[in-house]
Amino acid sequence: MLGPVALIQGSSRGLGLQFCKHVLKNKTPAVVIATCRDPDGAAELRNLGAAHPGRLTVLRLDVTREEDIRRASEQVKESFGRLDLIINAAAMLHPSGKGETSLRDVSAQGIISTLTTNTVGPLVMAKYFAPLLQKGGGSFGQQPPEKAKQHSGVLANITAKVGSIGDNGLGGWYSYRMSKAALNMATRNLSIELGRSRPKVVCVSLHPGTVNTDLSRQYHKNVPKDKLFSSEHSVNCLMSIIDTLNIEKSGKAYNWDGTELPW
Ligand SMILES: NC(=O)c1ccc[n+]([C@@H]2O[C@H](COP(=O)([O-])OP(=O)(O)OC[C@H]3O[C@@H](n4cnc5c(N)ncnc54)[C@H](OP(=O)(O)O)[C@@H]3O)[C@@H](O)[C@H]2O)c1
Repeated sequence: MLGPVALIQGSSRGLGLQFCKHVLKNKTPAVVIATCRDPDGAAELRNLGAAHPGRLTVLRLDVTREEDIRRASEQVKESFGRLDLIINAAAMLHPSGKGETSLRDVSAQGIISTLTTNTVGPLVMAKYFAPLLQKGGGSFGQQPPEKAKQHSGVLANITAKVGSIGDNGLGGWYSYRMSKAALNMATRNLSIELGRSRPKVVCVSLHPGTVNTDLSRQYHKNVPKDKLFSSEHSVNCLMSIIDTLNIEKSGKAYNWDGTELPW
């Protein structure tokens, strides 16, 4: 029988790639649908597929293109018929690669591009994939099946602590902060709408910590060594949170250590 099915959106590198590795390594016989905008250029992902024959499907999906998302949802419906977990991992800091330090750096196009990828994309993913999540409910963790069956699938949007309005004491990074604050609002809204459905879908935002990936690389020199996580560590933490989710925990944002992140 088919094991749990996870779709990792934004899986060519960084945390998305690590989520794929984690599920394939730890959760036999789980299968992974890895989406990325350039499968031909995603060498690590291809190697991962070769190492796990029959368990990794790679689909082309640029999260800014609704047509790609619609097409991928039809392919998943046809091949798998359900989803147990979606992780929306793709994001950018800013098209320039640098967060704005002041208003001087703000450009309309920079903000629009960042929001299109980081916020609109995950919401449109939810629009097309929610029906498949409603058919899911398989667990990726060690929970007994009766506990795991309290809800259907899980939708996890990868957010960032800097998207917390309550936590913002520093300013800057207008586009990225706004994109993640708005993503958190999308998570909350989704948890309400999909929490009314039968069966209910659990929707959460997850902050991975500061992680040693390309996204924040140019800022790592300012981060103390013990505060800069490997993607393995971060994904282990986030998957432990996902394993213990239930419907009461839906509609919230969580830090990598499981504590709640203030809006
Ligand atoms: N790293 C950190 O310190 C940190 C901290 C807090 C939150 N986060 C969040 O964690 C998540 C993962 O980030 P990361 O650190 O793994 O970043 P990363 O290494 O820079 O990877 C970003 C990923 O997003 C993909 N992507 C960008 N635009 C896309 C698009 N239009 N369509 C499809 N995929 C697209 C990239 O694909 P390509 O290879 O095609 O460019 C890449 O796979 C993000 O949501 C980020 O905001 C990261």
